[in-house]
Amino acid sequence: MSKKTNPIAVFDSGVGGISVLRELVKILPNEDYIYYGDSKNAPYGMKDKETVKQLTIDAAEYLFAQGAKGLVVACNTATSAAVRVLREMYPDIPIVGIEPAVKPAATLKPNCRVLVMATPMTIREEKFQSLMAKYEDMAEIIPLPCPGLMDFVERGDLTSDDFRRYLEELLFVHRIHPVDSVVLGCTHYPFAKDMIKEVLGPDVLVFDGGEGTAREMRRRLAEADLLNPSTTQGAVDFRNSLEDKKKIELCKMLLEL
Ligand code: DGL
Repeated sequence: MSKKTNPIAVFDSGVGGISVLRELVKILPNEDYIYYGDSKNAPYGMKDKETVKQLTIDAAEYLFAQGAKGLVVACNTATSAAVRVLREMYPDIPIVGIEPAVKPAATLKPNCRVLVMATPMTIREEKFQSLMAKYEDMAEIIPLPCPGLMDFVERGDLTSDDFRRYLEELLFVHRIHPVDSVVLGCTHYPFAKDMIKEVLGPDVLVFDGGEGTAREMRRRLAEADLLNPSTTQGAVDFRNSLEDKKKIELCKMLLEL
């Protein structure tokens, strides 16, 4: 039986889900969290759906065995592969996924050009294809798979010349300019936001789904009467399948950004 004082689990293929965790900590500071990254098996975005589904189910089982009262699947790729089946497996536990924030980006102004950056798997999957179809009449939506982008963030490389060159190539080779808005459809990418803005120019508006996901978790916990009544700051327990101290240090650093 879940208790109000149990932790909220936040799961990602690696360190990217910290961009969602930081939004959760902002609006639910008195909760405890377990942040679990599966960096050993990352990147998920280059795998097939069945593999990602099984890895996500395994992670959820592990986290519920640790007493998590709710789960945020803070990974767009894992959400498109597994959130539906997880909700069937655990109907009584609040489970919230994340998807690319296409709506605010596409409804910004009439006929705007929206670039959606995400992993190859997220873009391939039915969940994204139907999301895109919903807004296609309102905006020009340009999906851009970004193989390799998450690896820079996993290495903690957010400012190097190599990273800038990678982004310039990715965005120029695909003749992306000019766009009005960019959707960061992978939880690793908010950590590349400054560099993406440098490459695309300061006028581009950038959206990600972290804040909306955090608010949805708060709503679901309130509905289930599972919000922690504590009035003191909660703690984050960082875990990673690589069991590498450096990954944990990187997670802590990213949470402070
Ligand atoms: N952070 C994951 C997402 O939001 C993807 C990274 C990966 O390819 O593992 O889609």
